[in-house]
Amino acid sequence: MTINVLAICGSLRAKSTNRGLIRFAQANAPDGMKIHLADLLDMPFYNADLAEKPVAVEQLLKQLAAADALLLGCPEYNYSLAPALKNALDWASREADNHLLSGKPVAIMGAGGGMGTSRAQYHLRQVCVYLNLQPLNQPEVFANAFSGSFDTDGNLTDERIQALIIKQLAALQKWTQQLRK
Ligand SMILES: Cc1cc2nc3c(=O)[nH]c(=O)nc-3n(C[C@H](O)[C@H](O)[C@H](O)COP(=O)(O)O)c2cc1C
Repeated sequence: MTINVLAICGSLRAKSTNRGLIRFAQANAPDGMKIHLADLLDMPFYNADLAEKPVAVEQLLKQLAAADALLLGCPEYNYSLAPALKNALDWASREADNHLLSGKPVAIMGAGGGMGTSRAQYHLRQVCVYLNLQPLNQPEVFANAFSGSFDTDGNLTDERIQALIIKQLAALQKWTQQLRK
């Protein structure tokens, strides 16, 4: 059975390197895995006063309902995860019994400064605990966005990181199958 993965990227920038990681993953997903990208551009901040859910939020919730696993592109902003990614998780977490997130397998990858977004990724892992998301431990994907690993459009060109992503997707496939049992 095909594993349907929803990728959520914390950077909204057109030439985002984090999106570049996800793009590479989409193009190199193993047989039996499809990766779709959520569109966060029009997503407002979570606000409990909104009587009706905005269209962009409804769309995200629909995609999450159809997803067997998540792939989170995690930029590091001021030593933590980017607000666009946190906001998407916050919206999703307000659904009944957190059913859209609870128990779902997750792979995390990120591109940033010298520490490869590791600090942000560990904050994100803390958020996963509360949401009962099931993050894959290894391999971790920490990319440097400023050392020639990407072209000027944000496409990943670094062969070491490319190989790491291919390994991570294979591990996510196995992890998703394991959690289904
Ligand atoms: C508000 C802000 C805060 C940032 N803080 C950090 C940081 O703490 N650590 C880091 O490695 N990079 C930091 N950066 C740089 C980002 O890693 C860099 O902009 C990265 O390319 C963002 O990902 P993108 O290419 O997907 O947009 C920060 C960038 C912004 C805009």
